[in-house]
Amino acid sequence: MPNNNQAGKRENARVPRHIAIILDGNGRWARKRGLPRTAGHAVGAETFRKIATYCRDIGVEYLTVYAFSTENWKRPEGEVAAIMKLLGKYLQEAIDTMERDHIRMKVLGGLEELSPELRAMVRKTDEISQRYEGFQANICLNYGGRDEILRAARRYAADYAEGRADADLTEEGFSEYLYSAGIPDPDLLIRPGGEVRISNFLLWQCAYAEFYFTDVLWPDFGPEELDKAIAVFNSRDRRYGGVK
Ligand code: IPE
Ligand code: IPE
Ligand code: MG
Repeated sequence: MPNNNQAGKRENARVPRHIAIILDGNGRWARKRGLPRTAGHAVGAETFRKIATYCRDIGVEYLTVYAFSTENWKRPEGEVAAIMKLLGKYLQEAIDTMERDHIRMKVLGGLEELSPELRAMVRKTDEISQRYEGFQANICLNYGGRDEILRAARRYAADYAEGRADADLTEEGFSEYLYSAGIPDPDLLIRPGGEVRISNFLLWQCAYAEFYFTDVLWPDFGPEELDKAIAVFNSRDRRYGGVK
């Protein structure tokens, strides 16, 4: 699809290369309207589609969203099932449109706990993604930051024990064991929904991300909210521990 939002691109002269978003507030959005929480998830999924398109149009290279955490299995069975159904619907839709739009999509998280249908869709999106370069959407699904680090440590230990890795592990080397291998760290982390916490998201990768919190609930989060977050990001002084 051609880039049809040049105006947006100009306004955000410095667009973060990688934006990460914790998709939060779906349940409260629905409750405020007297709807079941699952209705909020459905609208939130649409919001993801709009924001992903907007990110691509303004020149963001990577968008990583937190869609389902390793802790979210604690929720009522019906809610989990509804979320999984929505994820399946959107992954299938992504499979149908990725080729046309030359979009890359990657699922980050523990896949073995997902249904065989979802796993098959993830394999398909991976396969299509290999054929393209350009905008990449990462969906964190059954994802936990600690779980990711632990799995990486176990895989490194196994490689070391079998002589495939040596003892002088570096930060860059360890990063290659994470789900996010090959993806640059997020520059901007956005959490809508009013909570001011990281909830086990990208613990390793957000070491120097700029954080932006807003009370706007995810289903209400539009391009203008993203523009606001980017404007705040541009006002920050990123020092990485140095002095200027
Ligand atoms: C985020 O919205 C979606 C998931 C965590 C799956 P919530 O469902 O957490 O919505 P709130 O925070 O209860 O409003
Ligand atoms: C974080 O939201 C996880 C996702 C958005 C997938 P939660 O709603 O699960 O986080 P807490 O419980 O408020 O920390
Ligand atoms: Mg929440």
